[in-house]
Amino acid sequence: MPQQWVQEQTDTDLEIQRLLKQSSQLPRHIAIIMDGNGRWAQERGLPRYEGHREGINSVRDIVKASATLGIQYLTLYAFSMENWKRPKQEISVLMELLQYYLKVETPELKANNVRLQAIGKLNALPKRVYRQLLRSINETADNTGLTLTLALSYSGRWDLVRAMQLIALDIRRGKLSPEDITEELVSSYLLTADLPDPDLVIRTSGEMRLSNFLLWETAYSEIYITHKYWPDFRRNDLYQALVDYLRRERRFGLTSEQIRQQRQQFDNVEYLLRHDES
Ligand code: IPE
Ligand code: IPE
Ligand code: MG
Repeated sequence: MPQQWVQEQTDTDLEIQRLLKQSSQLPRHIAIIMDGNGRWAQERGLPRYEGHREGINSVRDIVKASATLGIQYLTLYAFSMENWKRPKQEISVLMELLQYYLKVETPELKANNVRLQAIGKLNALPKRVYRQLLRSINETADNTGLTLTLALSYSGRWDLVRAMQLIALDIRRGKLSPEDITEELVSSYLLTADLPDPDLVIRTSGEMRLSNFLLWETAYSEIYITHKYWPDFRRNDLYQALVDYLRRERRFGLTSEQIRQQRQQFDNVEYLLRHDES
C-alpha cells in the first residue's frame, strides 16, 4: 500500500509546517538545481553514482515536504542537455536511477495527489525511460495537489530557440503578426507555459550559476544557494531556505507590527530546526 505522507510526519515537522503555513507569502513555485552528487560521493571515497543514488532519497524527502506544506509547483533540474556529454557509464546509471525512481514512486505520487510533468528534449531519453516517464505522467495526470516537474535533457536556451522557431512558423502561417509578440506570448510558447515563474530557485553545492536552467522564467526569482551537497539536502534545509526567502520578502502595505509578528514566526521555525533531533 502506498504511504500517506502526512502520516509519516514527526510532531516537530508538523509544527514547523504549521508555522510556515501561517505566512501568506510562501512561494507558489520552487525550482531546485540539484547539484553536488559526485562530490558528495568522492569525499566519501565512493564512486560518483553512489551520490546520485543517495540523491534520490533527497528527492523523495523534498517532494514529500513540499507536498505536505502545500507548495503548488516544484521543479527539479535532474539532467541538463549538457549532461549528455558526461561519460557513457555515468549517463547510463543516471538513466537507470530515473527509471527506478519513476517506477517505484509513481504509486506514492498518485496516492498523495502529486501531478508529474517533465520539460526538456524528452525524446532524447532512452526509449525505456521515456515510456516509463509517459506512463507516470499519464497515471498522475488527474491529480490536483503538488505539480512536480522534472527538467530532463533540459536547456533553457534550447527551449527559447524552440519557442522562437514555433513563433516564426505561426507568423509564416499567418496565425500571428510580429506585433503580437509580447512577454506573455513568448512565455506561452515555452515548455513551462503552464507553470508560474519560480518565486525561489535553490541551488545546492555552492555553485553560483544557473547552468542553463529556466533562463526566461527566473528573471525575477529569488536565488538561494547552499553549500550542502544535494544528497545532504533534506526537508529541514528546505525549511531554512524558506525562512530565508520569507525574511527577504518586502511586505509593502503591512504595518511594522504585523511584520514583527511574522518575523517572530520565522524565529520559532529556526528554533525548532536547531533543536530537531529526528
Ligand atoms: C548533480 O550532481 C546531478 C546531475 C547533474 C545529474 P553532479 O553529478 O553534477 O555532482 P558534482 O557537481 O559533480 O559534484
Ligand atoms: C546542473 O548541474 C544540472 C543539473 C543539476 C541537472 P551541473 O553539475 O551539470 O552544472 P555545471 O556543469 O556545474 O554548470
Ligand atoms: Mg555538478
